[in-house]
Amino acid sequence: MHDSILTYAKSRYLWIALALTLASLIAYIAHDPGGPPNGGTWLGYTLGTIGAALIVWLMLFGVRKRNYRNSPGTLRGWLSAHIYLGTSLILVVLLHSGFQFGWNIHTLAFVLMLVVIFSGFFGVYVYLRYPNLMTRNRDSATRTAMLDEVAEIDQNALALADGIDPKIHAVVLRSIQNTRLGGGVWTQLRARDGSDIALDSLHASLAERDKRSEMKTTEMPTMFAMVDFLAGRATDKQGEAMRSLIDLISRKKGLATKVARDMQYQAMMEIWLYIHVPLSFALLAALIAHIVSSFFYW
Ligand code: HEM
Ligand code: HEM
Repeated sequence: MHDSILTYAKSRYLWIALALTLASLIAYIAHDPGGPPNGGTWLGYTLGTIGAALIVWLMLFGVRKRNYRNSPGTLRGWLSAHIYLGTSLILVVLLHSGFQFGWNIHTLAFVLMLVVIFSGFFGVYVYLRYPNLMTRNRDSATRTAMLDEVAEIDQNALALADGIDPKIHAVVLRSIQNTRLGGGVWTQLRARDGSDIALDSLHASLAERDKRSEMKTTEMPTMFAMVDFLAGRATDKQGEAMRSLIDLISRKKGLATKVARDMQYQAMMEIWLYIHVPLSFALLAALIAHIVSSFFYW
C-alpha cells in the first residue's frame, strides 16, 4: 500500500516491533527459571515492565493527538508505531505470564488488553478503507451542500404537493419526517431516508389515475367522454405535477441515500474508539491493581 500508516518510513516500526518480539522470544527460550516460567522470574519482571511501559506510552497517544505544538515526530509516525508496538504486546505479555492464566486480576488485565488491541485492528481497517469510500460516495460534493439541497427539495416538494391534493401533501410531509440524517454517532449509524414512503404512494395514485382515464376514453359514451375530456385537462395538469413531484422526490432519495451512507461511514470511523479508549483506561486500572497485588507475593 502506497504511503499508508502501515508502510510509514519504510515500515520502520514494523521492524522495531519484530525485533522486540524476537528478542523477547529468544530470551524466553534461553531463560531457565528453574521451574515453570512465570511473571515472577527476572525475565518475567523484565517483560512485564516492558509491557507496562508500552501500555503507558500507547495511552499517551491520546495526549499526543491533541497536542499540536512542541511534539517530536509526525502524527502518522506515532500512529504507525502505535499500531506495531501495540500489536507486539500480545507476545511480550504472553511470555511475561509464561502462558499461565487464571480467574484473577492478572488475566483480567490481559483480556482487556486483547480487546483494546483487536478493536485497534478494526480501527486500522476503517482508517485505511473508509476515507476512499467516502470520497467516492460524495462525488466531490460536501455533506453540507448535499444537506442544503435535500432541504431545498423538501420545500419545493411540499409546495408542489400542496397544489395537488391535501392527501398527497400529508404523504410527502410524512416521508420528510421519516428521514433521519444527523445527530450523535448512534443515530448516524442508523441514518435513513423516508422518500420511499412518498414514492410508493405517488406511484400508486398515478397508476390509479391512469387506469381511470383509460377506462373513460374506451368505455364511456361519447357525450360523457367529451365532458370528461374537457375536465380531464384540468386533472392532466395534476398528473403532470404528480410526475414532477415523483422526479423531485427521486432526486432527493438519491441525495439522501448518499448523505446517509456518508454518515454511516463516518460513524464507523468513530464508533470503535468508544471501545478502544474507555477500555484502555480500564486496562490501566487493572494493570495497576495487577502490579500492586503481585508485590504481595514477595
Ligand atoms: C511492571 C509490570 C509488571 C509486573 C511487575 C508484573 C508482575 C507479575 C508477577 C509477579 C506475576 C506472577 C504472579 C503469579 O505467578 O501469580 C505476573 C503474572 C502475570 N501478569 Fe504481570 N506484571 C507486569 C505487567 C503485566 C502486564 C502489562 C500484563 C498484561 C496486561 C500482565 C499480565 C500478567 C498475567 C496474565 C500473568 C499470569 C497470571 C497467572 O498466573 O494467573 N502483567 N505478573
Ligand atoms: C494495549 C494497547 C493499546 C492501548 C492502551 C491503546 C490506546 C489508545 C489511545 C489512548 C488512543 C487515543 C485515542 C484518542 O484519544 O482519540 C488510541 C488511538 C488509536 N489506536 Fe490504540 N491502543 C492500543 C493498541 C492499539 C493497536 C494494537 C492498534 C492497531 C492495530 C491501535 C490502533 C489505534 C488507532 C488506529 C487509533 C486512532 C488514532 C486516531 O484516531 O487518530 N491501538 N489508542
